[in-house]
Amino acid sequence: MAVDPCDARAVADLARERSAGLVVIGPEAPLVAGVGDALREAGCAVFGPNAAAAQLEGSKGFTKDLCGANGIPTAGYVRVHTAAAARHALGQFGIPVVIKADGLAAGKGVTVAMSRDEAEAAIAAAGDGPMVIEEFLEGEEASLFALVDGETAIPLASAQDHKRVGEGDTGPNTGGMGAYSPAPVLTPQLEQQAMDEIVRPTVRALAAARTPFSGVLYAGLMLTSEGPKLIEYNVRFGDPECEAIMPRIEGDFAELLHAVATGRLAQIEPPQLSNDYAVTVIVAARGYPGTPASGGSIRAIEAAEQVPGVTVSHAGTELTPDGLVAKGGRVLAITATAASFANARARAYRAVDQIDFSDGFCRTDIGWRELQRAELAASP
Ligand code: AMP
Ligand code: GLY
Repeated sequence: MAVDPCDARAVADLARERSAGLVVIGPEAPLVAGVGDALREAGCAVFGPNAAAAQLEGSKGFTKDLCGANGIPTAGYVRVHTAAAARHALGQFGIPVVIKADGLAAGKGVTVAMSRDEAEAAIAAAGDGPMVIEEFLEGEEASLFALVDGETAIPLASAQDHKRVGEGDTGPNTGGMGAYSPAPVLTPQLEQQAMDEIVRPTVRALAAARTPFSGVLYAGLMLTSEGPKLIEYNVRFGDPECEAIMPRIEGDFAELLHAVATGRLAQIEPPQLSNDYAVTVIVAARGYPGTPASGGSIRAIEAAEQVPGVTVSHAGTELTPDGLVAKGGRVLAITATAASFANARARAYRAVDQIDFSDGFCRTDIGWRELQRAELAASP
């Protein structure tokens, strides 16, 4: 039976009818809509936060205020509700400056303005409504994924996303054009610092407010010269970061999620991850992140899957009587694992080359920072 995943009652009824032992809520919209709350009220084990804690992703203003109240390192900011107030607030910031629409925007509601004119244009385009204006942070980005069961928080994995649509991180922001895991730039020391200064204080603050967080907390970090600072939280596994993390997880993943859902994280063995690298390349439909070309035919996925270590995940495809066609912006996620970063990357692109999808495109430089580091380390 198909139910609307954001219809809390319908999802809870279905879970009860099927006697579901565990419900894992993947995307943000049902979490923010309170599907977790309805399932918990129905007595189900749920992986994913209730609506109150999902505000960490649902409202940038909520997260910024929580950081402010708890001394969590993040960019300086002001919250405004009208375009006029936003324009006025610009005076407090230098250039570049960051303009963020407050609400779920699938990663696309953010403008990093490189000039005052660009900032004003972003504000004009956003119109009146809640907005956060923010100081620009300088550094390299990395994502930290932590499992949280309300009280206990443990790091699971790191990853690096590629948000811009164009080569060399240029052009508009997207939901993510590729990722890899682990992200060695987030060293064990920096990871520890981010857990202690960012993730754990957040978990404590939500528990103290009686809106505990349960699920996976995805901290988007900027590694600045002053240490890691929080750019944003997501309350889910990240797309395509999820594709790059999953193949590295060893052991019983369902049991791990169940331990999170039932508050037993402190009692179980810490999750085991392989030392392999995983690299994910997104193939998107021409036009993305604007209006993507729809209906383009896709062939030879099987050939891509012949490349060792490769998995092809479908994100926006549809099987029609004429075969597989594109239906959506990000169409396929091609993930490859290998013992070295360079090999994982090479395998992923070898697989991409097999796929016959003339309406599609991908970035050819996923992992460029890591590649550059590896080359620097290898040069005399
Ligand atoms: P967000 O949706 O908040 O993650 O923002 C999307 C992207 O915009 C981030 O991944 C960063 O690349 C960039 N960004 C957001 N906030 C800042 C900031 N304060 N300083 C620099 N870059 C930022
Ligand atoms: N790839 C970024 C996200 O899932 O929000």
